[in-house]
Amino acid sequence: MSRNSPLALRLNTRAMVKTPHTLLDPMREYGDLVWLSNPNRWLVLSRSAALEVLRDPNLHVWTRRNSVERLQDRFDMDLSAVLKALDWIPFMHDGPRHAALRSAFARLLGSIGTDYLKAYEQTSSELLEVMQESGSGDFAAGYADRLHVEVFGHLAGVPPSERHAFHCATALDGTVQAASTVAKMQKACAQLDSVLERLQDLSKTETTSDFMDQVGAALIQSGLEDTAVSRSEFLLAFLLLGGDTQAGALTVGLAHLLDSNGGTLSLGSDDCQLPDKHCLVDEMIRISTPVQTSARYATKDTVISGQHIAKGDAVQLSLQAANFDPLAFECPHAVQSGRPKNVAFGGGRHLCSAMPLVRKTLAITLSHLETLGSIEALPGRTLAEDLTVRRFAHLPIRIPSRL
Ligand code: HEM
Repeated sequence: MSRNSPLALRLNTRAMVKTPHTLLDPMREYGDLVWLSNPNRWLVLSRSAALEVLRDPNLHVWTRRNSVERLQDRFDMDLSAVLKALDWIPFMHDGPRHAALRSAFARLLGSIGTDYLKAYEQTSSELLEVMQESGSGDFAAGYADRLHVEVFGHLAGVPPSERHAFHCATALDGTVQAASTVAKMQKACAQLDSVLERLQDLSKTETTSDFMDQVGAALIQSGLEDTAVSRSEFLLAFLLLGGDTQAGALTVGLAHLLDSNGGTLSLGSDDCQLPDKHCLVDEMIRISTPVQTSARYATKDTVISGQHIAKGDAVQLSLQAANFDPLAFECPHAVQSGRPKNVAFGGGRHLCSAMPLVRKTLAITLSHLETLGSIEALPGRTLAEDLTVRRFAHLPIRIPSRL
């Protein structure tokens, strides 16, 4: 479809997150890449075009700094905490800043990986035990939403009583993603400020802990300044990037497994028809595709999937559409083994730094769910309001009670 096509396709972002397939599937008939008149940009729908975009050196990431600064001026409000978070998120940058941040995340994740997984395993058991005791629970609010912050709290020495506040403050809605309202952004900013302050206390170089030493080493070895302020901002980005994303994979992934098995799932049983655990992890990630979209702009004229993209054009990838591309994934809604690599973690130079870790955390969750016996879906599911990360805010389930 050319940029001047008389077809004026519009994208309703809220509908895209709510019912992605209803909205995106009909667009495929216009090609791998469609031009949207509102907002003005290319939308990428196929896996092959998505991979081309992710690997194209002429397509750069889209920092949100300018738009946040404009909002700040227009509404005369202080959004400095959001700006600080954006400064530390690698996929808000290209060039030397990106290289330094990518290195810092890779180093930190490499050095804390084993401890992170140990703490995840312990937290997962504890949270599921609580549900097991009562025979039911909310897999979203009572489990998936809490894991990353609980694990972080455990590693960084945040007392359990403070972790809920950390969780509330580091949801992506209103911070990294375009906020749906200014009020939401203002509230998110105030919460981020208080978390930053607390993280600065924890980051003071004189109060040493193994975790904080690893944070400091990751920064220094990546050529970044190691101060209480830089540690706190780096850790804020760490919290923002890992919470909702993992919650999305867990909740949307489990909901899909439940639905495709008639509402009841017995992962450990002999008649369970699902692929082995490693394939199941990949399928949960593909089917959930928590990060719905990713944006780029052309720094030079380029060609994607045979389509000319002019310098300055914006390109939005629907990772969700790419992961349900029927040409790449036969029967895309089915859970199957032997699939090609999906793009839920992005690709190219911005490929998610935590991909290996997340695959292990999901495998831990599946092992724990396997020991619970038969899990049943209960009514009351609701999607979170986020516009970039798709996850359930509530996912009630029944599990066999231990009592
Ligand atoms: C299921 C869970 C996750 C998913 C689906 C996911 C997805 C993604 C995607 C799509 C990108 C690329 C964005 C772009 O190119 O515009 C990305 C980048 C990144 N993610 Fe994840 N992510 C997950 C979990 C995590 C966790 C737990 C962390 C760390 C705490 C993390 C850290 C990062 C970092 C540092 C980058 C930036 C890479 C770069 O720009 O070089 N992610 N992630």
